Amino acid sequence: FPSDAVSLVESHLREVPDFPAPGVLFRDITPLIADPQAFKVLIETIAERYRGQVDAVAGLESRGFILGAPLAIEMGVGMLTVRKGGRLPGPVVGVDYDLEYGSARMELQPFTVADGQRVLVIDDVLATGGTANAAFELIERAGGVPTRLCVLIELRELGGRERLAGREVDAVLTY
Ligand code: PRP
Ligand code: MG
Repeated sequence: FPSDAVSLVESHLREVPDFPAPGVLFRDITPLIADPQAFKVLIETIAERYRGQVDAVAGLESRGFILGAPLAIEMGVGMLTVRKGGRLPGPVVGVDYDLEYGSARMELQPFTVADGQRVLVIDDVLATGGTANAAFELIERAGGVPTRLCVLIELRELGGRERLAGREVDAVLTY
């Protein structure tokens, strides 16, 4: 991503120590999306990079929705919602995956995905890669082609890129 996009994101993040658990440094994107100019420029920059290369955007609930919807509009493509388990009316395809403690589930309505459709997966943060990995699998099971993951922030030490081995991952910022 262009260096001005990188500094735009960097300068609008809020770092919150000990959230949501002691010892975790949370990187909060709310100041970025609350700034109308910064949010607009960010979405335009991301759209510029992928325009013409994808047929749909898949946002990952919930912070991926905030980025995905304006991005889809800006690129002139549709918006898919990959949601936490139990939120979407069926039929759905679902994937269960492990968290550090416990498990999680993501779901997608396969009829929203056209056969062979190229899908850009978007989220705010890549951490362990569990959520994004589930999204890739769901899009494939629905007949789509998940081309790449785009995140604003990649937390390198949590190993998301390794978990997504073989997938294309673009991050605006890496810590
Ligand atoms: C956070 C973040 C990513 C995900 C990354 O979402 O927004 O979606 O975790 O973690 P992973 O790479 O280890 O899967 P969260 O589940 O906190 O929910 P939210 O987006 O609804 O706030
Ligand atoms: Mg999330």
